Amino acid sequence: MSDIIKIKEEYISKLNQDIDLNQVNQFKIELFGKNGKISNEFKKMGSISAEARKKFASDLNAIKDEIQNLISKKIQEIEIQEINLKIKNEKVDVTLPERSFSQGRIHPVSQVIDEISSIFSEIGFNVEEGPDVENEYNNFSALNTPNNHPARDMHDTFYLDKNKEFLLRTHTSPVQVRTMVKGKPPFKIIAPGRTYRSDSDQTHSPMFHQVEGLHIDKNINMGHLKGCLNYFIKEFFEVDKIKMRFRPSHFPFTEPSAEVDIGYEVKDGKIVIGEGNKWLEILGCGMVHPNVLKNVKVDTLKYQGYAFGIGIDRMAMLKYGINDLRAFFETDYRWLNHFGFDPLDVPSSYRGLSR
Ligand code: PHE
Repeated sequence: MSDIIKIKEEYISKLNQDIDLNQVNQFKIELFGKNGKISNEFKKMGSISAEARKKFASDLNAIKDEIQNLISKKIQEIEIQEINLKIKNEKVDVTLPERSFSQGRIHPVSQVIDEISSIFSEIGFNVEEGPDVENEYNNFSALNTPNNHPARDMHDTFYLDKNKEFLLRTHTSPVQVRTMVKGKPPFKIIAPGRTYRSDSDQTHSPMFHQVEGLHIDKNINMGHLKGCLNYFIKEFFEVDKIKMRFRPSHFPFTEPSAEVDIGYEVKDGKIVIGEGNKWLEILGCGMVHPNVLKNVKVDTLKYQGYAFGIGIDRMAMLKYGINDLRAFFETDYRWLNHFGFDPLDVPSSYRGLSR
């Protein structure tokens, strides 16, 4: 038997045994590597007589092909075997107990901001934002608040520098200024966000939330303001009727100005909104002062409108029966699990805000 037939038979029988991938690769090296048995046969080609060479070459090539085919087949076979084995061992055990998972909750303040945004966007208000760190001009001067105004006092305002140029905004009203200087009337926006005042007790926190409202257009009057707020309060508390009272007040940036109270009563230890003989203050509002409009280059002969500022935390407390404001900002998970909302339960007016 010639050498090459011997090699072939030897390896065919090796490949037919129960071997793994490593062994197959080993055989490949033994046969076709630099010093492999088949490789060496090819090297003999030069020393064979011309007559014998042709047959030798064709035999050798045939054997090379045959073994290579066999090797590919074997590799495929082994891989399929491995996959089958894996599938067999990886059977899903449906009787195993499920893994526990924890889902976060939406903070009542975030929920209420979403609710308020949903209500106002359905009646044509856009949502604007402004930074927590404001300059003195946007927070006070542009809003017609004189230098000696008590709101500018250190007792109320957190200043960030000695010159009192930068501060943590004390209300969301500077977003009125930011919105109007960068655009052209009409304006119809709300601006929810964080606000800061040096104040802390059961109903005041140094950081709290407001939503500003601003509507400037031709022929906007106080009737629009009342109608808008009345609509909003009813939608927000999900009631058909609401007792509301506009109390004359003062803000430097509105004239006339008012504070709005809503009626409530306490039934079985719970606050019921909309009825009763008690009053609760929930927001400040008024017709935007012409000086403010002049500061942002709005033509006061053509345009006018109203603004309001609502305390979001207080609205959340009222709607969801939470009586200590400080708990809002203590990040106690037990509290959040109790008062928080399902992340998938996005509030919208048409689906019912709070369900
Ligand atoms: N910025 C006022 C406050 O924080 C509220 C307000 C806003 C009043 C807009 C009138 C108009 O108390």
